[in-house]
Amino acid sequence: MTGPDYDHFCRLVRQRSGLVLTPEKAYLVSSRLAPVARTEGLGTVAQLLAVLRIGASEALVQQAVDVMATHESYFFRDAAPFEQLADSVLPPLIAARQTQRTLRIWCAACSSGQEPYSVAMILMEMGHRLAGWKLEILATDMSEPILRKASAGLYNDFEVKRGLSAERQARWFTQEPDGWRVSPKLQQMVRFRPHNLLQGSSGLGVFDVIFCRNVLIYFDIETKRQILDQLRRAMAVDGSLLLGSAETVLGVSDAVQPVPGLRGLYRPADGSLARSA
Ligand SMILES: C[S@@+](CC[C@H](N)C(=O)[O-])C[C@H]1O[C@@H](n2cnc3c(N)ncnc32)[C@H](O)[C@@H]1O
Repeated sequence: MTGPDYDHFCRLVRQRSGLVLTPEKAYLVSSRLAPVARTEGLGTVAQLLAVLRIGASEALVQQAVDVMATHESYFFRDAAPFEQLADSVLPPLIAARQTQRTLRIWCAACSSGQEPYSVAMILMEMGHRLAGWKLEILATDMSEPILRKASAGLYNDFEVKRGLSAERQARWFTQEPDGWRVSPKLQQMVRFRPHNLLQGSSGLGVFDVIFCRNVLIYFDIETKRQILDQLRRAMAVDGSLLLGSAETVLGVSDAVQPVPGLRGLYRPADGSLARSA
């Protein structure tokens, strides 16, 4: 699938989400847009691409962009970032925030919620060390349908077993006719809201920890740089950033620097705010 309608769609997706579609992704575009074309009563994906080019409703444009995003996620994905959170990130923050007794964590691009709920489990499992603290987990994504699933906190058998130990499943989930519901204790710790990483992070406040995992891989280098610079501006001076295992800042941005020996964990670089100001 090539031609002006396809090229227009690729530009649209890039402008709205940052996701880069190349001619080699034509098969992916076709398979993801086919169900949208069907529900719109259009015979083919080519017809849908033409409608999107000539002028479609905002809702249809939004839906077409949304289906191009990959929402793959699971509980305690890659294990290491959550071990780092519990063992290396939270202990010094707890020591440093004894007066305020507040921690703010942001899961940027949280998809269906497994990441922020995993963070919430880690915080709850810190027990008395965080008793009485104000703990806020902000979980954002550009996709409103996936945020609805995330805030419902309902997972099927496959999803609930993926990454979760039997102990954690029993402790934090209740079986319901439609699946496994996350405990209200975890649910009330997480605030879900739509947010597009292309729109910067001003207005969200300052965070002690930011998870931005498995989304930068889809962007071009300039978009990655802008987002990393913005994430740095949203981090406390002693804050931490956790990226995905396939993501790096090397050759992209010097706003954050890797923590030696802890793959995927980054801290603000000295003087980075002055440079990016
Ligand atoms: C592969 S999931 C990653 C989920 C989770 N962070 C993890 O590692 O399991 C990528 C998510 O990024 C979201 N996304 C893509 N582009 C975005 C953007 N520009 N702003 C915010 N979210 C975006 C998608 O909607 C999708 O839910």
